[in-house]
Amino acid sequence: MVSGLIVAMDGPSGSGKSSASRGVARALGLRYLDTGAMYRALTWWMLQLEVDLGDPAAIAAGAGEPMLEMNTDPDFPGVTLDGTRVDGPIRYPEVTRAVSAVSAVPEVRSRLVALQRELIEAALKEGGIVVEGRDIGTVVAPQAPVKVYLTASEEARATRRSAELAGTTVAAQRVELARRDTLDSTRKADPLAMAADAVELDTTALTLDEVVAEVLRLVKERA
Ligand code: DC
Repeated sequence: MVSGLIVAMDGPSGSGKSSASRGVARALGLRYLDTGAMYRALTWWMLQLEVDLGDPAAIAAGAGEPMLEMNTDPDFPGVTLDGTRVDGPIRYPEVTRAVSAVSAVPEVRSRLVALQRELIEAALKEGGIVVEGRDIGTVVAPQAPVKVYLTASEEARATRRSAELAGTTVAAQRVELARRDTLDSTRKADPLAMAADAVELDTTALTLDEVVAEVLRLVKERA
């Protein structure tokens, strides 16, 4: 087990972050945090309460409300909202469509970034953590010694997403990914960005095992 390590894994949707991050965490005996699941959970909660997601003030007002707990075991990652597991609902298409609006609100980000830092601190006492998201290397944990920025061609990303989701097509996923990329990378608060000291890894032509192996090589080199 590597001690006290943070591995930051950023990149757009469909770049292969989740599978690679869990694989790296398992291989190194580290915890695993899916920060996108936290933004999705708050979004799902707001959709349930019919919060007006066109109104940033309404989103900000609810940002601190629900109790959010994350399981950081890479074999059983999970999100609990006010005592209920919401791992299934947070992947619903309506959540995917609305999450960029919620995650653009500074009050949402400051609450979730604080929670993410607490989870990272706790995990460091147990050896370390692999954290995936959009702003991990730039905002949440800029001190991470290993920062990876995953990319993949639009076609590869859309193909992966459509294979994960029932009832959709590669063409529909291309449109959806392009829409989210634009929203996530152009928002004012902590946009999707590659840290200056991150290593870019194009996963288009790589298998999952190859991506994991490359990140493990980086860990050896940098940590
Ligand atoms: O990784 P994902 O597709 O489940 O993330 C869902 C959304 O959450 C994504 O469109 C942008 C937002 N997000 C964010 O703003 N910051 C993060 N660190 C992680 C996700």
